[in-house]
Amino acid sequence: MELTDKHYLIVGGSSGMGLATAELALARGASVEIIGRSAGKLDAAAKLLASDRLTTTSLDMTDEPAVKDFFADKADASIDALVISASNAVHGPFETAETADVTAMFASKFMGPFVLVREALPKMREGGSITFFSGVLSRRPGRNGAGLAAVNAAVEGLGRALALELGPRLRVNTVAPGMARTDAYAAMPAARREAMFRSVADGLPVKRVADAADIAEAAMFLSTNRFTTGHVLDVDGGHLIAG
Ligand SMILES: NC(=O)c1ccc[n+]([C@@H]2O[C@H](COP(=O)([O-])OP(=O)(O)OC[C@H]3O[C@@H](n4cnc5c(N)ncnc54)[C@H](OP(=O)(O)O)[C@@H]3O)[C@@H](O)[C@H]2O)c1
Repeated sequence: MELTDKHYLIVGGSSGMGLATAELALARGASVEIIGRSAGKLDAAAKLLASDRLTTTSLDMTDEPAVKDFFADKADASIDALVISASNAVHGPFETAETADVTAMFASKFMGPFVLVREALPKMREGGSITFFSGVLSRRPGRNGAGLAAVNAAVEGLGRALALELGPRLRVNTVAPGMARTDAYAAMPAARREAMFRSVADGLPVKRVADAADIAEAAMFLSTNRFTTGHVLDVDGGHLIAG
């Protein structure tokens, strides 16, 4: 589907799955605005994407007044697709989990999208779409990921509820990725990161972890298919069925 005359707003578009989604949307002719906090990451993404249909904005989605100001400046009915891949995820044993860390994760991965969608609504065009990102851990948790499993489930619940409440004006869906090779793991020592990818890949029917582009294709499908709403699309290499 050609996306000429469509406008994508991608929160988290300076890295990983959001960046790969921006690349696909631009390739199909859309205009795209990507959002992240770091100006340096936005500049690097803009250089990579190299399109005059791309704009970048530095914004922290957990800063509610800043999010309100951001949308107040936008024209009505100017956004066709809102894609939210930004998040802050924490792992670790439940027994020693810090309340502040889990609260910050919910403030980011759940309340971020909640506030973004609410503030974006007047600016979304009839027939538009909203795409959230959760994660396969919502339904197949691993050890040391209780908070992450819970926040992913919360995002999926929000997606289903909003699909009901905002239809037929807007469609709302969620991509549930399995493990993907993105900057989300950039802070890990390289050897440990590669060992983790190998170990996860070994347990999957497809015997590899995802690339950002694998997941971005799913986000593009959900944002463009006019008969899909309230759906959670697993793109997990078979994680949910693996033994
Ligand atoms: N990678 C995986 O293996 C995996 C697996 C399952 C689910 N997921 C989920 O898939 C989604 C995308 O993950 P990814 O791997 O593509 O992540 P990523 O490469 O780390 O990218 C995250 C993006 O979000 C932005 N961001 C983070 N916090 C933000 C905030 N408060 N306000 C605005 N922008 C913010 C980051 O830029 P700044 O840091 O500059 O703000 C960056 O552009 C996330 O929801 C993640 O939890 C990922």
